Amino acid sequence: MVPIGVLVSGRGSNLESILEAIDGKYITKGRVNVVISNKPGVRALDIAKKHHVSTVVLDDRGLPKMDPEYDRKTVATLEAHGITPKAGLIALAGYFRILSPQFVEQYHNRIMNIHPALLPAFPGLDAQKHALEHGVKVTGATVHFVAKEVDAGPIILQGHVPVRDDDTAVTLSERILRQEHRLYPEAIRLFTEDQLRFEGRRVLVKT
Ligand code: GRF
Repeated sequence: MVPIGVLVSGRGSNLESILEAIDGKYITKGRVNVVISNKPGVRALDIAKKHHVSTVVLDDRGLPKMDPEYDRKTVATLEAHGITPKAGLIALAGYFRILSPQFVEQYHNRIMNIHPALLPAFPGLDAQKHALEHGVKVTGATVHFVAKEVDAGPIILQGHVPVRDDDTAVTLSERILRQEHRLYPEAIRLFTEDQLRFEGRRVLVKT
């Protein structure tokens, strides 16, 4: 069993898709040991509790978006729940903090993130709005390993969606979210079954 820690900040729909994939035995080789939120009272915490997963709030109010000292507390919490740099997996699921280089190095290629665009297009915040404004006809979602640069690590899986003429940021986000909820459990399943391999910066599924 790969011990998994999920870091969240808000709504938690991706967390929910991961927990449902575990409950439904789509993911059988991984288990979420802890959900850590940097915000108290968010829906993601309720979802974790509903699935009987331990929750920890590390309130980051007043702290900078990137803070090695704060990350040390996060790492200590992860390790206390068995998510070690040797054996664990960390899934960022709507986690609105930037990880310090120390954190990323410590858990090299063991931290995943999901982004609502086809990276390397539209990194950063409001990706759906930027895709719409730019006029792309196709966008989507990307699951990638976390590197020191934001939204720039090796790509694991991508899913595309069409952009319709009458889309708003809301309708486009909903369409992308359906892809996110399919892709994130799939990427975690592949990782926990040791089915991913690296070729340079490419991540390939073992055949
Ligand atoms: C998702 O759109 C994800 O791609 C982005 O943040 C949003 C989180 O949504 N990183 P949720 O909290 O998982 O519902």
